[in-house]
Amino acid sequence: MIRMCFLLSLLVSASAMADEPMMTDFGKTKDGKAVELYTLKNDTGLVAKVMTRGATLVQIHVPDKDGKSEDVILGWDDVAGYESEDNQYFGCTTGRVCNRIANGKFSLNGKDYSLAINDDPNHLHGGVERSLDKVVWKARPYTNDRGHGVRFNYTSPDGEEGYPGTVKALVSFFVPKDANRILITYKATTDAATPINLTNHAYFNLGGAGSETVLDHVLQLNADKYTPTDDTLIPTGKIVDVAGTPLDFTKQKRIGARIEKLTDTAALGYDHNFVLNPKPDDKEHNFAALLRHKESGRTLRILTKEPGIQFYSGNFLKGQKGKDGKTYAHRSAVCLETQHYPDSVNQKAFPSTVLQPGDEYKTSTLLQFGIAKGATGN
Ligand code: GLA
Repeated sequence: MIRMCFLLSLLVSASAMADEPMMTDFGKTKDGKAVELYTLKNDTGLVAKVMTRGATLVQIHVPDKDGKSEDVILGWDDVAGYESEDNQYFGCTTGRVCNRIANGKFSLNGKDYSLAINDDPNHLHGGVERSLDKVVWKARPYTNDRGHGVRFNYTSPDGEEGYPGTVKALVSFFVPKDANRILITYKATTDAATPINLTNHAYFNLGGAGSETVLDHVLQLNADKYTPTDDTLIPTGKIVDVAGTPLDFTKQKRIGARIEKLTDTAALGYDHNFVLNPKPDDKEHNFAALLRHKESGRTLRILTKEPGIQFYSGNFLKGQKGKDGKTYAHRSAVCLETQHYPDSVNQKAFPSTVLQPGDEYKTSTLLQFGIAKGATGN
């Protein structure tokens, strides 16, 4: 009996251990910093890998209608890929301020700030060398009775990439045991007023990363309105109805159906911020987007506490080689970046992105994978 109990407890602890986030080396950055990769698995077929450089989602494997798993996000097999010119923010945490700030300038409390111009003439995705996607974060894996995850911490010193205040940022990725979901939670504090707008920049192709196109995916966005922009993708400040335009995704539509009809911006396809319809009071997260791929049956529902979502149809993908030598062709993936609206720090009428000392920035987004109704293997 005692022996049985011992064996049983060994078995239980072995299966608990199998569930713990597993850490492996992912190589070193050019300046010699070790990068760690964590694997999160659950009982229903999801495998997600996240690394300390840029608190980045590196892989997400989810089953299709026949139970066949495929990695559905773009990326590389090593740090060198992520450090290369080919990396267009694949899977990373984007900040301190994601998206664009007009002319890289803003004023806060009577002081003017100038940021790097890396998307001429604007500032994009937090800067050049020390934006949050390029620094190495500290990881702390954790397990609780609902599942497991990894918390990434990074302290960005005052003045880094031109932004005021020392910012302590936390991003966590949590995978529940029993559902194919990833909950991404963002937190930050500061010691001086500063703009903050964090998102994840994963590129999805539900047919599997490296599939030819995303134009055959069907998309629904919970947005009756969007923020039109000038020719440099800076919002004009207006909030306009999507009805009657190729931006109307209030009902499920094929991404490719009207992409060539987009004429109102310099974007080479979809690259627009949508204003999410108000969140029902009884819901923690608002429904933001549904992405569906007919052939595989895979679906992705995105829920969020953020007021907006940037829908980007991979227009700048240029055929770079990624994981397993796969090619990432023009429009072969889609980004659905939950966030505050672009250039909010200069747009007084938009929801504020300014974090004050003593306050906590806290937001979250849920990536919920599934199989479309009726899409069985038979
Ligand atoms: C965002 C922007 C795009 C592009 C990509 C990265 O989604 O809105 O214009 O810069 O990032 O290539």
